[in-house]
Amino acid sequence: MQESVWRDEVAAAGHPRLERNLDVDVAIVGGGITGLTAALLLQRAGKSVAVLEARRLGDGTTGGTSAHLTVALDQPLSTLASRFGEDGARRAVESCRGAIDTIGELCAGLGLDCDFQRVPAFRWTETPAKVPHLDEEARRYGEAGVLVHRQDGLPYSSLAVAALRFEHQAVFHPLKYLEGLAAAVTAEGGHVFERTRVTRWDDGRPCRLSVSTGATVTANDVVLATHSPIGLLVSLHTRLEPLTSYILVARVDDPPPLGLYFDTAAPYHYIRAVSPARPDLLVIGGADTKHGHETDTAACYTRLAEFARSRFSVRAIERRWSAVLFEPVDGLPFIGRLPGTQHVWVSTGYSGTGLTYGTVGAQLLADLIQGHENGWADLYSPSRVKPVAAARRFVVENASVAYRWVADRLAPAPSDRGEDLPPGDGKLARVKGKKLALYRDPTGKLHAMSPKCTHAGCIVQWNRDDRTWDCPCHGGRFDPQGKVIAGPPMADLRPVSLEEEAAPDEREARPAAAEPLRPEPERRGEVG
Ligand code: FES
Repeated sequence: MQESVWRDEVAAAGHPRLERNLDVDVAIVGGGITGLTAALLLQRAGKSVAVLEARRLGDGTTGGTSAHLTVALDQPLSTLASRFGEDGARRAVESCRGAIDTIGELCAGLGLDCDFQRVPAFRWTETPAKVPHLDEEARRYGEAGVLVHRQDGLPYSSLAVAALRFEHQAVFHPLKYLEGLAAAVTAEGGHVFERTRVTRWDDGRPCRLSVSTGATVTANDVVLATHSPIGLLVSLHTRLEPLTSYILVARVDDPPPLGLYFDTAAPYHYIRAVSPARPDLLVIGGADTKHGHETDTAACYTRLAEFARSRFSVRAIERRWSAVLFEPVDGLPFIGRLPGTQHVWVSTGYSGTGLTYGTVGAQLLADLIQGHENGWADLYSPSRVKPVAAARRFVVENASVAYRWVADRLAPAPSDRGEDLPPGDGKLARVKGKKLALYRDPTGKLHAMSPKCTHAGCIVQWNRDDRTWDCPCHGGRFDPQGKVIAGPPMADLRPVSLEEEAAPDEREARPAAAEPLRPEPERRGEVG
């Protein structure tokens, strides 16, 4: 797994493991922007809180994003208006604007040194036919109270024919921000634990959570701030499309003015400087693919590098990594009470605007847990009825999951024991008729694992460039030795001894195409 550029300055795990039983008002699973922001807001509202992070703070997706803070949403406002009404589209923009203000206020109030800076954002097009669409979007954003205007081209690009300029957007360093939030949570009496994986949660009065150290947490409420809800839950996962977004850091001679930049291509590209102090180091991302479906991830990075070189004078590509994001089928995140539970709350489906929506989610959940009214609750409710327009995408996405569940079991794999695997590489292979995930570590030791994702049993795929096992169904991601990195799985890939008696060949296994979509009891999450 490649480290993002944000890890350069915030590397060490600085918070303890949870080694004893604990009772709090709110247990928050996940130490990303949603979890830590919610923790601070709830702590300040008088709730006792504990944040339980399986790895290091930000190791999910917060630490892998490009950290755009913007109200310019991935979905066109015209599309959101057709699904949620003009008022719904306006409220989505307002909630994001409020979230950026909240981040700015927290940075100022806590005195955080996290490079927060207001900058303009530009959505540009290189296609003349899309200019009327930009004009329409400018009108809609303007009506939602955003200071935006259309301009011809961009200062740095001769290819851009038009752009929207959004004023008062922002950049920051996401991991420095998280560390600042975590320090505030603990200074104000809350708990933050790292290397503490939740292995089971139960809804109830109180809710109970088991963690990897053997400790138990009891809480009145549980927040699943894990980007995608963890556990054997499949209802919300069927309404999320996981994508992998590819990111590189390019050192250029001709950086654009400080700002956020994203185009109208499909998939789109996004650009920002690593920091105001290093405008020559650009974070350039995009080339998104369906997570776990792309077999040639090197080509994605190559396309991204070509995009960069055709628009900037690139001296060097200094870094690259990828991150998983989740597209909701109807275009807006799901934030609120997890359907089928009383005291479990969820926030997911942020598209490419994760840090902004993550803050929206934290604010909304903090209000809901306190029993306060919140004008965004119905808009983002996970129980909302899907608009008809989103139904087709829902069906297509789930047909794709069901197909992969079956097809990947039947797909051929070379029959060998990984003798030819070079250090640092992995692959699927068939050993004694059993499909295995094989990885040879840099010391030459071979690791064998079951390739069945521990969420709902899809077959993981080896991502050679990022050195991860990626699940094609709901966004699960594991490190080379099978440890969960991100997504809904709660358990690591099961290690297998190569000398073990061969299990029945997957080709002969019961074809249970419907299993990923099986309605699970939605009151419990446990190791799959
Ligand atoms: Fe659901 Fe892997 S993430 S089966």
